[in-house]
Amino acid sequence: MRLTILGGGGFRVPLVYGALLGDRAEGRVTRVVLHDLDGGRLSAVARVLAEQAAGDPDAPEVTVTTDLDEALRGADFVFSAIRVGGLEGRAEDERVALAQGVLGQETVGAGGIAYGLRTVPVAVDIARRVARLAPDAWVINFTNPAGLVTEAMSRHLGDRVIGICDSPVGLGRRIARVLGAHPGEAWIDYVGLNHLGWVRGLRVGGRDELPRLLADPDLLGSFEEGRLFGPQWLQSLGAVPNEYLHYYYFNRETVRAYQRAEKTRGAFLRDQQAGFYEEMRRPDAAALTAWDRTRAEREATYMAENRDAAGAGEREDDDLSGGYEKVALALMRAIARDERTTLILNVRNRGTLGVLDAEAVIEVPCLVDANGAHPVTVDPLPGHATGLVCAVKAVEREVLSAAESGSRTTAVKAFALHPLVDSVNVAHALLDGYTAVHPGLAYLT
Ligand code: G6P
Ligand code: MN
Repeated sequence: MRLTILGGGGFRVPLVYGALLGDRAEGRVTRVVLHDLDGGRLSAVARVLAEQAAGDPDAPEVTVTTDLDEALRGADFVFSAIRVGGLEGRAEDERVALAQGVLGQETVGAGGIAYGLRTVPVAVDIARRVARLAPDAWVINFTNPAGLVTEAMSRHLGDRVIGICDSPVGLGRRIARVLGAHPGEAWIDYVGLNHLGWVRGLRVGGRDELPRLLADPDLLGSFEEGRLFGPQWLQSLGAVPNEYLHYYYFNRETVRAYQRAEKTRGAFLRDQQAGFYEEMRRPDAAALTAWDRTRAEREATYMAENRDAAGAGEREDDDLSGGYEKVALALMRAIARDERTTLILNVRNRGTLGVLDAEAVIEVPCLVDANGAHPVTVDPLPGHATGLVCAVKAVEREVLSAAESGSRTTAVKAFALHPLVDSVNVAHALLDGYTAVHPGLAYLT
């Protein structure tokens, strides 16, 4: 079984490789091909992987290449985790938006639109190449904004592309934990778009345990989302939102916290990772130790401004391990070995949410087996959530259409229609600001 990782010089590749090392079962991944545009980053990550594999005779063999077509030929799975414009681009996405007084997060609001506009053309090119060179491969997309990018790729790959995110899994795990339920035995009733979903129930043995949580302010205050949103707001909603909804429900506060921050998230990660890759150029560097130190610092500071704005304090130790690699591995295992399982994934809607068309990519629990991911039937969302989901999906569609046509007018429409952009004038200023700094947006005319 051969796995190709696009963005193979990326910082989180060792997480995926670590998960593969722990997989001993028949049909596991035996070859990993790392592709990246930057050979230096590939060498750095390859050093970390080599240290991870040391002393393990069965470790998956690793090769690196900067040739995309070569990387794709013969792949069974393609894991796409690219970052168009790099972390410098992410920092610019934030800076330009904050200068206009709106949010520049990489997946939410103006920042997500800017990042989407420069990522979609690249993702579409990859999808076309996969369809030609590895038509039987499954593509797992982690590239943010993950829902939008998955939808762009699905137009060329159909249901062979599946988007993943670890936020819903983490949320489900935390709710199960505070309710004393085993995450493996709980059914998480979650639906929405990527970074825009709600847990409406958690069923164990046929009983919905969520009302017990919502009725108990102490329990509500005992986990990340409870502290971010506050017990009262969760009780009002009657649901627990994905952490990224903090940017919507507390928009002023998060914008202010980001404006006050010494460095935005993108700028922090840009500098932090530059230090790591620089260190990897030293022949005597302890690669795995340096990587792990950098990873731990990244995890600890995740969404720090939001927690700051909410007075939510530090992250809990249990929340620091992520889960990104676990979702990816579980998905690959289910498909490759026909090991039936349920995972929350980004797939085409079919008829799941009646308010969206069949092609719209949504985030929803899916049954997964060798035939791919099949969304399960869910209850409709309440009006307020439907409103947000439809508004944001409409924005995503404008982004896809601007990426296809190269129309600035359509790109302005995408910004202007977003619920977190409060004026058409701001939308114009955002597009001007972004095209001035991003070479990847030169196609917009
Ligand atoms: C969560 C999100 C991902 C994001 C990751 C890292 O897992 O669901 O979409 O890529 O956090 O966020 P960071 O701010 O550290 O890049
Ligand atoms: Mn995510």
